[in-house]
Amino acid sequence: MRQPLVAGNWKMNGSRESIRALLDGLKQGIGQVEVAEVAVCPPFIYIPDVQEQLQGTAIAWGGQDVSTEASGAYTGEISTAMLLDFGCRYVIVGHSERRSYHGESDQLVAKKYAAARAAGLIPILCVGETLEEREGGVTEQVVARQLDAVIDLEGVSALAGGVIAYEPVWAIGTGRTATPEQAQEVHAFIRGRVAQQDSAVAEGLRILYGGSMKPGNAAELLAKPDIDGGLIGGASLQAEDFLGICTAAN
Ligand code: 13P
Repeated sequence: MRQPLVAGNWKMNGSRESIRALLDGLKQGIGQVEVAEVAVCPPFIYIPDVQEQLQGTAIAWGGQDVSTEASGAYTGEISTAMLLDFGCRYVIVGHSERRSYHGESDQLVAKKYAAARAAGLIPILCVGETLEEREGGVTEQVVARQLDAVIDLEGVSALAGGVIAYEPVWAIGTGRTATPEQAQEVHAFIRGRVAQQDSAVAEGLRILYGGSMKPGNAAELLAKPDIDGGLIGGASLQAEDFLGICTAAN
């Protein structure tokens, strides 16, 4: 049985003040979340504040990105050890915004995934196709290529204990959610592809959906057999909305 995970990706949003209020709201409501594991991924600079406020609660936290390197002359980068130093449990790698705005390749993302795992962080590997790719009928090829980069680097066992987030690029921040059927189809494809190599790893793998997930559509999406949670952008910035998604997993 896979425990659902609902993770908030705050992206580059918030202030010390707004984050305090958001976390107060989450802490008050987290008791209603009976089933899902809950995590938030703030901008790096707010991680110490988040740690201070969430320490000892049921809510975990993580980074939105990480360096492949351990330390040294890498201006602007944050290492796995630094994230661990501030209590992070998760780290997102390969978000489509990093792939497109920062030119991150499948190979670089795979190295980030491997670095995170080696350090003891749980990587959340984002995969997903653009609108053009979906319309061109190559969704499965794109997702397979992004997934295979990780498997090629370290073998399928690298996915044991990891998390994948299927985030169709056309659904991110657009209000245009994938239908539960569209999402389930890709989730089943991902699990099936992993199962071809290792059925136990596939069975335990948590595959989250991300892209305009809201309290109003979460229950339907989460009811699908291969959707094991959500990676939430916009709706994770409001305590009530985020908690609404978390409780939909009940
Ligand atoms: P939205 O929920 O704002 O569509 O963002 C999804 C996302 O990119 C989460 O990583």
